[in-house]
Amino acid sequence: MELPFAESWKIKMIEPIRKSTRQEREKWIKEAQYNVFQLTADKVYIDLITDSGTGAMSDRQWAAMMVGDESYAGASSFFNLKNTITSLTGFQFVIPTHQGRAAENVLFSYLVKEGMVVPGNSHFDTTKGHIESRKAIALDCTVEEAKNTQLEIPFKGNVDIVKLENALKEYADRIPFVIITITNNTAGGQPVSMKNLKEVREIANRYRKPVLFDSARFAENAYFIKMREPQYANKSIKEIVKEMFSYADGMTMSAKKDGIVNMGGFIATNLEQWYDGAKGYCVQFEGYLTYGGMNGRDMNALAVGLDENTEFENLQTRIKQVEYLAARLDEFDIPYQRPAGGHAIFVDAQKVLPNIPKEEFPAQTLTVELYLEAGIRGCEIGYILADRDPLSRENRFNGLDLLRLAIPRRVYTNNHMDVIAVALKNVKDRSHNIRRGVKITWEAPLMRHFTVKLDRL
Ligand code: F0G
Repeated sequence: MELPFAESWKIKMIEPIRKSTRQEREKWIKEAQYNVFQLTADKVYIDLITDSGTGAMSDRQWAAMMVGDESYAGASSFFNLKNTITSLTGFQFVIPTHQGRAAENVLFSYLVKEGMVVPGNSHFDTTKGHIESRKAIALDCTVEEAKNTQLEIPFKGNVDIVKLENALKEYADRIPFVIITITNNTAGGQPVSMKNLKEVREIANRYRKPVLFDSARFAENAYFIKMREPQYANKSIKEIVKEMFSYADGMTMSAKKDGIVNMGGFIATNLEQWYDGAKGYCVQFEGYLTYGGMNGRDMNALAVGLDENTEFENLQTRIKQVEYLAARLDEFDIPYQRPAGGHAIFVDAQKVLPNIPKEEFPAQTLTVELYLEAGIRGCEIGYILADRDPLSRENRFNGLDLLRLAIPRRVYTNNHMDVIAVALKNVKDRSHNIRRGVKITWEAPLMRHFTVKLDRL
């Protein structure tokens, strides 16, 4: 008999988590104005609000913390990090930042100006925010198939080459660079194929535009390339990663995801011009160039995390857990963005709560219902997160409306996945009784989902 699959690690330290009663949760979510970001974490049983900064570090990472070099300038920890990044990606210039959006802020301060257009595949909300706040346009060129949650194709995160080429023709000089997000978080943690990365590079070359990767989940993307693009089946993750980045001029990185650290990020590039342009903003916003926004110990832990998480077994353990949850949801006929993404399951809220009109935010309503059901905290990636159109100020209802269940790395067991699946089934079973959604009572002008105040209708 073939041995079953099991995790490629064992557990050395645990953190207790607490259950609560439905009555308590009714009170808490009301006090939080139906925004799960406003809940204190002790009121949450299983926390799937994000996979960002919530992973468990390894013993090697904790050991590396102890030998961090906290020198202001020229710390050895910076060079540990820089050398690891260079050997994985081929990029020579590295600027550490305190997290991913800080990398965007530093680099975009140099690259993005009013009136510019930045085409890409479903820019993440902070990326879009950093573009739009500079009065530029984040132009979405994701493949149309990404909008059909039930369509099972291997690389649903891809850039639509025709849309991209049209954009490059139409906006020509207004385009500072093309951005590709790997994996495509907003479209459901869906990967981008090596073929697509290569095609984007070729088109960008033709129009003489640089290419930037938003690389938060680059290692998970490499895993999918290995599993789904036949010619990569026998390549190591590190070989695949190296080839992926050979098609980019630079990267912004939120190290809180595939770096498996609790805080950190960086910019890396081979364009000296970008490095020279951005480094002043690093000093201004983050810190001196050999620490940016990071401690020495954190740079050390990140160097180890990047090395570990570009090993096949670690990625396989992680993505198989996400796939396990997906299989449980299939048993209960709960529709989600198919196939399962790398870091999360994105439940199609409209299909689970068919009675809630889009103006009443189905995915946010489902987020609240799942919390009430079992103390599970997911996150709306839908109409609230989509913000308003910067010009018309109308709600943007043209994308997907999803409840994201982001799975922290190396934190929960498959027993927790079982609880999540059954809790969602219970919500679905009583969906005929869920007839009204939520309404916004207060919102911020940009990135409103973090602080939005809501009321139940
Ligand atoms: N790019 C992508 C694709 C992201 O998913 C995120 C963060 C960022 C950039 C910004 O990085 O948080 O370190 O500043 N995503 C988190 C999430 C918040 O929950 O998906 P950051």
